[in-house]
Formats: sequence, C-alpha cells, structure tokens
Amino acid sequence: MALLRVENLHKRYGHEEVLKGVTLAQDAGETKVVIGPSGTGKSTLLRCINRLTEPDQGRVWLEDTEITSRRTDINRVRAKIGFVFQDFNLFTHLTSLDNVRLGLMKVRGMPRAAATGRAMAELERVGLAAKANAYPAQLSGGQQQRVSIARALAMDPKLILFDEPTSALDPELIGEVLSVMIQLARDGMTMIVVTHEMGFARSVADEIVFMEGGVIVEQGTPDKMFRSPEVPRTGEFLRKISDLYGESR
Ligand SMILES: Nc1ncnc2c1ncn2[C@@H]1O[C@H](COP(=O)(O)OP(=O)(O)OP(=O)(O)O)[C@@H](O)[C@H]1O
Ligand SMILES: [Mg+2]
Repeated sequence: MALLRVENLHKRYGHEEVLKGVTLAQDAGETKVVIGPSGTGKSTLLRCINRLTEPDQGRVWLEDTEITSRRTDINRVRAKIGFVFQDFNLFTHLTSLDNVRLGLMKVRGMPRAAATGRAMAELERVGLAAKANAYPAQLSGGQQQRVSIARALAMDPKLILFDEPTSALDPELIGEVLSVMIQLARDGMTMIVVTHEMGFARSVADEIVFMEGGVIVEQGTPDKMFRSPEVPRTGEFLRKISDLYGESR
C-alpha cells in the first residue's frame, strides 16, 4: 500500500478553481518532485495534504489514516508530516537548538535532556551543531533552511513536504541545502519537493510530476520526462526551466 494517497483533490478560491482533481500516490522512500508554472496550484496541493489549507473535495490518506476525515485528529497527523517552507518559518526569538527542540518537548512530550540530545543529533546531521545557540538572524538563509530541515527531521516524520526550499536563497547557498536534501533522499526519506532545481530532480527524483492549471499534466521518471515526455507541453516547460535555472547543480 502506498504511504500517501491523494484522491481527486479540488480547491477553489472564489471563482477560481485552483486544484481541479489531483490524484497521486507515493510509496515510502520515494522522492517526488513537483514542477509547474507559477499559480498552478503546487503550494495549494502541498498545503491540502496536511490540511494547512482545507480542500473542498477529495481525500488524502497517510497509510490507513484518512487525513481529510473530520474524525481525524489533524494535529496527530501533522506531527508525522514535516513541512519545509520557502521562507524557513523559524521562530526568530528562539535559537537553532530551541527551534528544533520545541516540537519534541511540546508535541512529543519528550523530557528536556532527551529532546536536547535528539535536537543536537539533527543539527549535526545538517552540519549545524556549531550553530546550536545562534538565533535565525545570526544565520545565513542556507543555514536557516537547514535548521528548518533539522526541525522537521527531529519529529521522525513519515513524509516531508518541501515548498520551494531553495527559492529564497542566494545562489551560492542553494547547494548546501540541496546536498542535505540529496542525502535525505538517499537515506530513504519520503519527500515531495516543489522546486525548479532540475539537477536535483534528475539526480534524486523517483518521479517528476508536472502540474499546470490545477491538474497533473504528466508524471514519470526523470528519464521519461526529460527524454520522451508524452505531452508536448511537458517537454516545453522542462526546457524552459532548465534554461532558466540551469542544470549545473
Ligand atoms: N489563500 C488564498 N486565497 C486566495 N487565492 C489563493 C490563496 N492561495 C492561493 N491562491 C491562488 O491560487 C492559485 C494557486 O496558488 P499556489 O500558491 O498554489 O500556486 P503555485 O503553483 O504554488 O505558484 P508559485 O509557483 O508562484 O508558488 C493562485 O492563483 C493563487 O493566487
Ligand atoms: Mg508555490
């Protein structure tokens, strides 16, 4: 059984239907990369998966829990789904250590000493143990994003959703965040990543999903999507973003 199933998801804002029936399935350990033009519903899709945005129609399951059911305790489900935002979303008044430790203590109820140990291990994993006592304002964008990834990892998520995790970063800082993500993918983390980084997509995506106008136009392995897409629009879009963002990374 797939780890995550999304079935016929619809979302409307006013007169605009932003998601027009999105269906996908994701196995444990799989990395999916979602691409598509601006305003196409990529962020809305990620947000509907853990109900940061309430879908109007459709269902989402994490294993055998229906996330979209009214009876589901959404906070319990959210604790199993990490979310990494474009703008990091760290608490600015807390150190790196406290940002990572907070969920362990508040959501998991872990005692302080154990939470500290776990948080330090995750900071170590993203190469930031030395910055444990730094506040977000004292960190580069790349470092802040790595703290945010450590915070997600600390919760032992079943799945991590990344919404353009490197788009807010200066070019020279993108690589350090991508290398952490590449390592995660290789370690078997299940991830859905909205990104323009086609080098990343090519090297670690099991599947690339191309969305446009609120629907999935085409999905497949990077090889298929880059070399022999079935829909002409897919090839056109991939060429465009590869030109714009390069594939060097
Ligand atoms: N809270 C909201 N209220 C009203 N409209 C919204 C809201 N959130 C998103 N939209 C609209 O829904 C559409 C899809 O937005 P979404 O953010 O999902 O696109 P996206 O594919 O992530 O785009 P981008 O690549 O620019 O991040 C857009 O037209 C957007 O203006
Ligand atoms: Mg978006």
